[in-house]
Amino acid sequence: MRGDGGPTVTPWEVEGEIDYMRLIKEFGTEPLTDDLVRRFELLAGESNFMIRRRVFFSHRDLDKVMEDLEGKRGFFLYTGRGPSGPMHIGHIIPFYFTRWLQDRFKANVYIEITDDEKFLEESRGLSYDDVQRWSYENILDIAAVGFDPDRTFIFKDTEFIGQIYPLVLKIARKVNFSWVRAVFGFTPQTNIGMIFYPAIQMVPTMFERRRCLIPAAIDQDPYWRIQRDIAEGMGYYKTAAIHSKFLVPLSGPAGKMSSSKPESMISLNEDRASIRRKIWQAYSGGQPTVELHRMYGGDPNVDVAFQWLNFFFEPDDKVMREIEEGYRSGSLLSGELKEMLIEKVTKFVEEHVARREEVKDLINHYLRDGELARLMWSKKFE
Ligand code: TYM
Repeated sequence: MRGDGGPTVTPWEVEGEIDYMRLIKEFGTEPLTDDLVRRFELLAGESNFMIRRRVFFSHRDLDKVMEDLEGKRGFFLYTGRGPSGPMHIGHIIPFYFTRWLQDRFKANVYIEITDDEKFLEESRGLSYDDVQRWSYENILDIAAVGFDPDRTFIFKDTEFIGQIYPLVLKIARKVNFSWVRAVFGFTPQTNIGMIFYPAIQMVPTMFERRRCLIPAAIDQDPYWRIQRDIAEGMGYYKTAAIHSKFLVPLSGPAGKMSSSKPESMISLNEDRASIRRKIWQAYSGGQPTVELHRMYGGDPNVDVAFQWLNFFFEPDDKVMREIEEGYRSGSLLSGELKEMLIEKVTKFVEEHVARREEVKDLINHYLRDGELARLMWSKKFE
């Protein structure tokens, strides 16, 4: 969805204030209804706060994934990362959610590192070497999430391409230029690598002959729309997807965090002082003075600290309710709310950095030596 004075949401750009219900209509996805959530929780044997709060708010064919689970056919998970720089907190959220799904359903997880895509995106100005360095750094961040080493395969496109190229070509032959131009907004100036690239992001949905479920923010959905139009004709399943909203940037409720705007985000290696400084400067829903705040209360709907706690950092619903009531009534001040978030984010980042060190030896397991990795390197996808 692009332009018309309204918000822009494409895989490369998210701008403006997003009306998620409208996005569901425009993208042609389905809302995550209460009934669906209840059924999913029963199958998972556990409730997940990001589903409960509709951080993951939309889907494609999640009902069919549940039928596959009930019919014991199972499903597999696929997600990814474009290694364009340090990962920020928004980027890692789909990975934590994917890990939860893997734990609950013992599912295989495929993680694509799209070094090709980020090199081809000229506006980023990254050299081939830059993208390789970020690939390694980002893989470490992803490994620190703690996926099952024998049920998880992480692969970098430029390395794995030899195994998948025949299947990439079969997809590419089914998708013409006017189609990708309409879906992604390509122009005559777009380089030919970018025009071909969508075939590479679609391939992992065909890694197994059963249904794929993709957890990601909704910006990645345009690829799945094309995949769903061609998959069955190629003898594969239409992919299912579960979409999240965007963690709002520190600067306020519009758009998404971006590594190219350092003040809008917190990266996974941000130091203590900088976390504190950035959160203190974050957009607040509070009143200009303490007296006014005590009188009129704050607005949690636009308050970044509140939004971040609700999105990821405070899983306990009871605590969130108390925070919301306190903030609306004015008994909880913006500064106090920010302190709560600073504490949570600092702890999260410090633990993440420590885990990154611990998993260095596991990287080869995910890339080559684990059970799923070895199986993948022994196959040719035709
Ligand atoms: P990338 O690296 O832009 O984003 C990685 C993942 O993070 C999600 N995301 C966010 N989630 C919450 N809040 C935010 N502010 C936020 N910003 C980004 C993205 O939706 C994504 O899930 N082309 C892809 C790489 C890729 C991929 C995939 C992603 C290849 N195959 C399959 C998801 C699923 C990319 O550049 O993602």
